[in-house]
Amino acid sequence: MRYPEYRPRRLRKNGLLREMIRETHLRPDDFILPLFVRPGKGVKKPISSMPGHFQLSIDLLVKEVKEARALGILGVILFGIPEKKDELGSEAYSKDGIIQRAVRQIKEKVDGILVITDVCLCEYTSHGHCGVVRDGRILNDETLELLSRQALSHAEAGADIVGPSDMMDGRVGAIRKILDENQFEETPILSYAAKYASGFYGPFRVAAESKPLFGDRKSYQMDPANGDEALREVQLDIEEGADMVMVKPALPYLDIIFRVKQTFNIPVAAYNVSGEFAMVKAASKLGWVDGDQVMMESLIAIKRAGADLILTYFAKEAAQKIESGK
Ligand code: PBG
Repeated sequence: MRYPEYRPRRLRKNGLLREMIRETHLRPDDFILPLFVRPGKGVKKPISSMPGHFQLSIDLLVKEVKEARALGILGVILFGIPEKKDELGSEAYSKDGIIQRAVRQIKEKVDGILVITDVCLCEYTSHGHCGVVRDGRILNDETLELLSRQALSHAEAGADIVGPSDMMDGRVGAIRKILDENQFEETPILSYAAKYASGFYGPFRVAAESKPLFGDRKSYQMDPANGDEALREVQLDIEEGADMVMVKPALPYLDIIFRVKQTFNIPVAAYNVSGEFAMVKAASKLGWVDGDQVMMESLIAIKRAGADLILTYFAKEAAQKIESGK
C-alpha cells in the first residue's frame, strides 16, 4: 500500500494517537544519577560547566540521594574527590576513603536505592592517570591489584554494584576473583566495557579534579574510530564475569550501543557524559536550542538505540518531567 491509500501522517494526527503507537518510553528507573562527593561538612561547591551539579560533602550527598529516590530513580553512581592524592592513589582503596565513607552513610540512611561505585584510580592519583605510572607508561598488570583492592573495599563498605571504568586489560576478571574470594559473589559488576578516549569528558575532569597531568588516555581508552573493537571489549568483559556492560559516551556512539545490544544478551548501560550534558545546557542558555526538548530527545534516542540503563546528569530533571506527565 502506498500514497494516497497509505498516509503515515494519519497516525501522527494528534497527541493521543501519537502516544498510542509510541515505541519507546522513558521512565525514571531508566536513569542512574552520577554524583561527586568531597570531604567536609555542609559543602556544596557548584561545578560551573555542569549547572545543577555540585561537589557535595557526605551529609549533603545523602540528602541528594534521598531526593533522587523520591523522584523514582533507583541508582546513583559515586565519584570521589579525596583528601589527598598520591602516586599510587591510596585513598581509592582505603577503608576510610571518601567513597567508602559515603557508601556506608547512604546505605545506613537511605532505603530503596542502589549505590554503584566507580572503580578507577584517576581521581586519586597525583598524576591523574587511571593506573600505575612508571617511566611515563601506564602499567596494566600492576594496576589490576590496586583496582581489585578498591572494588573489594567498596563492596565491604556496602556498595550494591561496582563499576570499573579504568579500561585496563583483565580488570573484570581480577575484580570478580577478589570479590568471590571474599564472599561477595553476589555483588554485580557493571563494566565500562567500551569506553572511548573522548573529548566529551572535559567537564567531568574539572568536576572530579582528574585531568591527567601529562599525556592522554589513548593508550587505554578506545579509539573513537573503532566499532568492531568495542564488540571484542564487551565480549572479553562478559567472559571475565561482567553482569552488565556500558558504552561511553552515548550520543556520538549510538551505533555501538545498537551493535552491543543486538550482539549480546546482557543488560546494556550507556553513559550520557558530562560534555553531552554541558553542550545542551550551554546552547539552551544561549537560547539556541530548547534545553528540555533536546534533553528528552537525547535520552529517548539512547534508549531507542538499545540502552537498558542511562547514566545521565539529566536524571533528576528528566524524571521530574516524566512524572509531571509532559
Ligand atoms: C574515569 C571516568 C571518567 C568519566 C567517568 N569515569 C573520565 C575519564 O576517563 O577521564 C567521565 C564521565 C563524564 O564525562 O561524565 N574514572
